[in-house]
Amino acid sequence: MEFGVCKQEMLQKKNAVLVDGVILNGPIMDSKAGEKFVEDACKIIMEEVVQKADDVTEKVCEWQAPEKLKQILDLEMRDTGECHQKVLQLCRDVIKYSVKTNHPRFFNQLYAGIDYYSLVARFITEALNPSVYTYEVSPVFLLVEEAVIKKMIEFIGWEEGDGIFNPGGSVSNMYAMNLARYKFCPEIKEKGLSGLPRLVLFASEECHYSMKKAASFLGIGTENVYFIKTDERGKMIPEELEKQVQRARKEGSAPFLVCATAGTTVLGAFDPLDKIADICEKHGLWFHVDMVERGMWLESVLELRPAVTLKAKKYSTIKAKSKIQASWGGSALISRKHRRLLHGIHRADSVAWNPHKMLLAGIQCCALLVKDNTGLLKKCYSAEAAYLFQQDKFYDVSYDTGDKSIQCSRRPDAFKFWLMWKALGTTGLEERVNRALALARYLVEEIKKREGFQLLLEPEYANVCFWYIPPSLRKMEDGPEFWQKLHQVSVMCYLRFTD
Ligand SMILES: Cc1ncc(COP(=O)(O)O)c(C=O)c1O
Repeated sequence: MEFGVCKQEMLQKKNAVLVDGVILNGPIMDSKAGEKFVEDACKIIMEEVVQKADDVTEKVCEWQAPEKLKQILDLEMRDTGECHQKVLQLCRDVIKYSVKTNHPRFFNQLYAGIDYYSLVARFITEALNPSVYTYEVSPVFLLVEEAVIKKMIEFIGWEEGDGIFNPGGSVSNMYAMNLARYKFCPEIKEKGLSGLPRLVLFASEECHYSMKKAASFLGIGTENVYFIKTDERGKMIPEELEKQVQRARKEGSAPFLVCATAGTTVLGAFDPLDKIADICEKHGLWFHVDMVERGMWLESVLELRPAVTLKAKKYSTIKAKSKIQASWGGSALISRKHRRLLHGIHRADSVAWNPHKMLLAGIQCCALLVKDNTGLLKKCYSAEAAYLFQQDKFYDVSYDTGDKSIQCSRRPDAFKFWLMWKALGTTGLEERVNRALALARYLVEEIKKREGFQLLLEPEYANVCFWYIPPSLRKMEDGPEFWQKLHQVSVMCYLRFTD
């Protein structure tokens, strides 16, 4: 409405350039009204999101069932726009009915709390709206990405390498799978899949489901992911891997990749990287390590409120289930105390590292890092679009790194990690990791002390898996009825969390 007034004023001006009824030399929006809107909305964000982020007296979520929520929110998009006050009220409603993922009592696999620096980094990049494909469009952010990748490579222990920030761990794993396949048969880029032997890759049975998705998406096929048995701690058994590689060869298929996991999704197990690297070397297989950690800030364990997640059947022999989980995989590299868990990581050909979880860098922030320094990443992914990646620009075009990506427009995700790292220093990040692990230790000790709680296994890292058995079930015999009742307990716990 306010903009309509502006348009009238413009039309009255003598120099208005009108084409097809459109004023071409007028503003596209009323910028003054827009600025005021941003200011008011920022105030709401500050008051309702940031300042309430660590207030335990606030609700995690104003939970409503979908149909009810549809009624409460005005979701319909109409021909005429709403006034600013109404839009601000919509912003308030969106915040009110959304889950406060920064809340200390928000328990979910992905989250670890709020980091103010990465939050501000997100504000900056949202405001600037850059795209990290070419240096001319994103000079600062491309240099930031380069610096962050260099530092991450240093922590992995490679002398050189390459990398690309992308939308997450799943995508990084897919990047790696495609890259490994390209390395195995470079002609695939032009010729496609036809004529290729049956390609087979290996991952532990505890690996993240993104391996299956990637195999399906890339046309490899989920049946060609050979899942390797794990030991009682959830680690890949190297001898089983060796057997499966030999089986694949006997079948006449072409093994090309092993995906190890450093910090599995449920148990937080670290596959034996060194031994797996030996097997990869022996058979000439690409060695990828998924150290995409998940995060759950464990401050609330001080009150010992069990978070509940259904566990895989495999563990159901050990009794009921409840767990607080926080796998921090790659972040262990930052901690001098815990980096031994990733012993052998320097032997990997590629690594997926996800600071948007445990390290609190804000979704999305994830890098695929590659040991190769011969430009393999670019060779594999580039399309050399002439309109964007001209080779005769006035600056060093090697900084136009966008052609390494499968995306065209790409967010400057490295910046969140960089600003946070600058503010906290490596020591600050290391303290975060150490603190999380100390909290996990504390939780373990508390579980051991409390009746009705059963530790599933001594955690190796930050995933603490335990069962909560309510008093009514404690004397019950193990059997189908016990399990059925126990599953109801977890549903009840979920309900209480949303209360
Ligand atoms: C081991 C592991 N790899 C990959 C992923 C997927 O990461 P993203 O959610 O960033 O796609 C997860 C997610 O929790 C994970 O636990």
